[in-house]
Amino acid sequence: MNLILLGPPGAGKGTQAKRLVDRYSLVQLSTGDMLRAEVAAGTALGRAAKQIMDAGKLVSDGTIIDMIGARIAEPAARNGVVLDGFPRTQAQAQALDAMLAARGKKIDAVIELAVDEDALVERIAGRYACARCGAGYHDLFQLPRVQGVCDVCGGASFTRRADDNAETVRDRLAVYRSQTAPILPYYEAQHLLRRVDGMQSPDTVTAAIDHILASSIPA
Ligand code: AP5
Repeated sequence: MNLILLGPPGAGKGTQAKRLVDRYSLVQLSTGDMLRAEVAAGTALGRAAKQIMDAGKLVSDGTIIDMIGARIAEPAARNGVVLDGFPRTQAQAQALDAMLAARGKKIDAVIELAVDEDALVERIAGRYACARCGAGYHDLFQLPRVQGVCDVCGGASFTRRADDNAETVRDRLAVYRSQTAPILPYYEAQHLLRRVDGMQSPDTVTAAIDHILASSIPA
């Protein structure tokens, strides 16, 4: 099964993608995570991408398509992938179809997570993660059980993304509206697009996605 999670920054794509990995034995392919790994490793790609990401703009289609192409070709992706943060432009959507078709595969469902803009800003501005294991937290919605200690690994230091500030979030939302939202009709025309109310609790969103997958994808 190959799925796309589409939605604006902070819609919950990463949160839901991680849950789908466990439930359906998929590999999560997050272009944002891949780019942040390049930045952390100090590669040439990472250095070029950092400025663009910090400004809330999109990294070039060529760079992103090459990065995803390499990951889709890996044996780990054979059972299926959940794409989070990709595709983000019409060119990326068409390149993805071509990559999958070359392997005799296709997209099975595209899930759009719909969330109000004010809620997105609040979600992103409050987000942080464990510096050691990457477990995600939120100042208001998801605090560690013991203050200052990661629930998962016991780590005591936490990080915030450089692009998670109210000003950059507004720019990222504008980019989503102008460059990513226009690909929704591409998937609607293929009868692949399903909309989920992302304002619900994470568990309710997961249940809604499960329901869609159970009813639209043959076992
Ligand atoms: P990327 O990392 O993809 O960021 P994004 O799309 O802006 O999405 P986020 O990771 O911010 O949000 P999310 O939807 O995953 O939400 P999350 O689950 O974390 O991209 C970063 C940058 O990289 C881009 O700006 C661009 O520069 C570049 N880039 C990446 N891909 C690219 C591409 N394909 N082409 C070109 N450039 C690319 O949730 C957010 C918060 O809300 C969390 O704190 C979470 O706990 C909380 N939360 C989640 N669900 C709920 C809920 N239901 N209720 C309450 N809180 C919730």
